[in-house]
Amino acid sequence: MATGSGYGKTILFGEHFVVYGLAAIASALGSVTIADVKVIEGSGWVVDDQRPATPGYKKKKYKEAMQSIQNVIDYLKINTENQKLEISFSGDLFAASGVGASAAQCTSLSRALNETFNLSLNDEKINEAAYEGEKAYHGTPSGIDNTASTYGGLIWFVKNLSGGKNTMDLLQSPKKIPLVIANSGITASTTEVVADVRRLKEESPEKFENIFKDYKKIAENAKQALLKGDIKTIGDLMNENHKLLQKITVSGEINDKLVALALNNGAIGAKVSGTGRGGLVIALTRDVETQETVAKAIEKEGYDAWKTMIG
Ligand code: MEV
Repeated sequence: MATGSGYGKTILFGEHFVVYGLAAIASALGSVTIADVKVIEGSGWVVDDQRPATPGYKKKKYKEAMQSIQNVIDYLKINTENQKLEISFSGDLFAASGVGASAAQCTSLSRALNETFNLSLNDEKINEAAYEGEKAYHGTPSGIDNTASTYGGLIWFVKNLSGGKNTMDLLQSPKKIPLVIANSGITASTTEVVADVRRLKEESPEKFENIFKDYKKIAENAKQALLKGDIKTIGDLMNENHKLLQKITVSGEINDKLVALALNNGAIGAKVSGTGRGGLVIALTRDVETQETVAKAIEKEGYDAWKTMIG
């Protein structure tokens, strides 16, 4: 049996905009999905998904998950005619919309297959295989989730729209920044939400052009603020980014409620993270005490809240 793992992620800036070639900033999470692969007699493959998950998440994503596993197997040219793969997924990453659960699954599988069949793939190739898997979940993924899942750390990511290599720079912040991740409990379909945003963009090109212009400034300033560890500016920019996400209709009632709850309890900045329309909200706090206060306030309202440090 061989094992592989992939990190979860949180997008600090630029979800959705990243699909159109604008820069985004993501941080890998300490939690991982683990894939185990065993080769037995027979043909085809079976999967046992033991990941902890938001109720309904696995059911909603079932078809996409099956297709994504097939995509990775096909991309790596694994023969499943004369041998059968027993694949299982586990780990401490809670599968929810927004934490990069699909990317972590694809990355962990790519790594486990690499080990099982001695493919000698480097991280770049693992990332490419995971990207193929992500296509089943996202339709047209930007690649930021699988990149964060493969490499870890805090990354500045720009999708190459011409199909060439994407830009990925590792960022180092001089400070560890406390973050609360709040789970709305709603599982959104990334494919559907991304397609919806694309349709809106085609309907209102000028509106989107202005939003993109505003976002570009946010991304550039956020990068500088992260490099300096300027928590106040990062938080302010997260609030601005959230407003733009509202404008492109990817926030939702619960997202906005969680953002307000976090800000009212001392967070400096809060925003949708990931697909949105449910999924996750992230909140940045000045210190771990406020992080605790924000997490407790969210839990009191009946939502899961996870604490992490980024940078
Ligand atoms: C999903 O985690 C992030 C999106 O920007 C889609 C993508 O980048 O592929 C919504």
